[in-house]
Amino acid sequence: MSITQEILANSPIGRDTPRVDGPLKVTGKAQYTADFHFPGMLYAVPVGATIANGRILELDTAAAERMPGVRAIFHRANIGKIFRSSLQPNFQAVCEERRPPFEDDIIRYYGQYIALAVADTFETAKAAADAVRATYAAEKPNVETHLEADDDPDEVATTFGPWHRLESQRGDVDAAYTSAPVKLDQTYVTPSETHNPLEPHATTAIWDGPRLTLYESSQGIVNLRGVLAQMFDLPNENVRVITKFVGSGFGSKLWPWTVCPLAAAAARQLGRPVRLVLPRKMMFHAVGHRPRTQQRVCIGATPEGKLVSLWHDYIYQRSMLDAHHEDCGEATPFQYSVPNLRVTFGRAKRNVGGGADMRGPGRVPGLYATESAMNELADQLKIDPVRLRVINEPQIDEGLGVPFSSRHLLECFELGAEKFGWSKRTPQVGSMKRDGLTLGWGMAGCSWIATRFPAAATVELRDDGTARVACATQDIGTGTYTILAQLASHRTGVPLDKVEVALGDTSLPEGPTSGGSMATASIVPAVLAAADNAIASLMTIATGTIGSRFEKRQPNDLAFSDGVMFVKADGPAKGVPFDEILRSANLRLAAGSGKSEATFGNPKPKLSTNSFGCHFVEVTWQPEIARLRVSRVVTVIDAGKIINPLAGRNQIQGAVVMGIGMALLEHTSYDPQNGAPINSSLADYIVAVNADAPPIDVYFLDYPDKEINEVGARGIGEIGLAGFAAAITEAVHHATGVRVRELPVKIEDLLA
Ligand code: MOS
Repeated sequence: MSITQEILANSPIGRDTPRVDGPLKVTGKAQYTADFHFPGMLYAVPVGATIANGRILELDTAAAERMPGVRAIFHRANIGKIFRSSLQPNFQAVCEERRPPFEDDIIRYYGQYIALAVADTFETAKAAADAVRATYAAEKPNVETHLEADDDPDEVATTFGPWHRLESQRGDVDAAYTSAPVKLDQTYVTPSETHNPLEPHATTAIWDGPRLTLYESSQGIVNLRGVLAQMFDLPNENVRVITKFVGSGFGSKLWPWTVCPLAAAAARQLGRPVRLVLPRKMMFHAVGHRPRTQQRVCIGATPEGKLVSLWHDYIYQRSMLDAHHEDCGEATPFQYSVPNLRVTFGRAKRNVGGGADMRGPGRVPGLYATESAMNELADQLKIDPVRLRVINEPQIDEGLGVPFSSRHLLECFELGAEKFGWSKRTPQVGSMKRDGLTLGWGMAGCSWIATRFPAAATVELRDDGTARVACATQDIGTGTYTILAQLASHRTGVPLDKVEVALGDTSLPEGPTSGGSMATASIVPAVLAAADNAIASLMTIATGTIGSRFEKRQPNDLAFSDGVMFVKADGPAKGVPFDEILRSANLRLAAGSGKSEATFGNPKPKLSTNSFGCHFVEVTWQPEIARLRVSRVVTVIDAGKIINPLAGRNQIQGAVVMGIGMALLEHTSYDPQNGAPINSSLADYIVAVNADAPPIDVYFLDYPDKEINEVGARGIGEIGLAGFAAAITEAVHHATGVRVRELPVKIEDLLA
């Protein structure tokens, strides 16, 4: 290992690091998508269908068009050509709803865009959108909540390509289940959920001849560019996507929705910049939701608690159009050891908008079901739920048949139990009291995928002692600006406050999507390699500059540490700071670029790479007034090296608060009459807020996972939500004796 590769003593990696972009945010200087203004800009407001199934017979736009200040009412006849996009190799140009807006007259879900009003002001555009009248041939929508699998082939198309409905299988599940002395067969239901990021979806589209620039609130600018380039028949280099700050996404902004090409098409027709910001209500229609799931878990076990058979069969709701796959069975094959296993799924079409990844897609609902089943089995066997998991800890990933790169789940359980005081738990329902309240204690395990998207980055060392790191990724509020600065500082020795971070612009080197908790793990190799190449370039400069202290040396004789170049034999004390070298060579900068290879989607990895963790939860219950509160949470996460523990704890705490909402509050309900999401406002769609959050203690194990990258960082964000709802429902059972198997837990469920 060369000296440049050693962790520097003053490296910011692994240290609590306040957000480098924090001051911009708290002073209001951070520019979100709708904060960019352009001369001549027009405002667009979509018109959504008021039926969920049927056909448009007639669209009456006359009144809207006559309004002063209205520039156009777009619909199928005048929007211009918009092509479909298709998935490209290596998961490029991913999109959940491929049908371009206005492609046909068929309505498949409530709120599907049928027209777009564009005007000089937002208020006029809104009034014009409201004045558009549609007549429909309406049919009864299917928004039935009970799910029965459609008649699908064994292999189905998904957003990421073909998928086998028999997802995983080993041994003989049926025989093992039949002969198992202990059996559990339960069905768990999770509702549709809506992401509800604080900042709504927003696009500003600007054409300059054959070039399109999009200011977009996006979790994946490079992917978005690939989709929009196809839709408007442009080469990638003619599309530029800019996303400087994002008010979160939770997956709703991962892949492009039809609202974005609408703005671009309108701007093309009118020759003016067009801004489209979705109203909150429309955030429930056509920009994704976590699909409803119904999951059957059958477990066979020995009286001692050893699992002998596990069948996880799940059904999820999908829209009429999209192929979103809610992979609830992703963790089932390896979370615990079991010789006989089968994971299968089915899908049920409904008249709803496209399903989408929502924080912890697949695994979050999936682990709710399987971890709930483990808790119920423990109860049935009179075994402590932690002990049941310890008994069934696997030696390898039994699904893939390969070792784990790094799995410390047992240590998570041990630390969590100790910090929570789990040993004081008395298992009898309602047996624990404090201050007149009944206590309920529950726990669950969790895991999350750890792989990399492809990424490229550049690092520049500059003659004023500063550095610049650039990558076309985006910071969705999770701390990517800070992580990029930390990585560049770590390798170059340039202090954090002298590192400029450039991201959120597709003119920069292609970076990863902010999804799957994979952005950090993906950028580490690219940024470190870019920094190394900048340093290598500096060495060539140093030895090639006449009059330089290193003139007679070879680049190989030199080393670089902490911003200083020196002759290896002499040591850093006799070194020269990099800015001095650049100045004496009359160079502004030394630059390097680097790449990360993708590991996402590899069907046959040599090692199984996942993060693990667990939650311990206390609820309080007052049966007299049916009041349930979450009073205390301990979460332990094993996610490799945590680059920024301050931002990391913040991520996990946020996920836990969201988990309280998932367990007790969140659900999107569809009206059986017209298929409309009924509770489509933040007043009616209840999310957990600060006032619902109890003390949340987050602990990280610190086992760098070198399989993922040389820092050993796997990434966090989603894992904090995984398993959490199962810990709550277990605590609810412990307090009340009621097993709730359909989320969210409602007060009605608990009234005797
Ligand atoms: Mo996350 S659902 O990958 O934004």
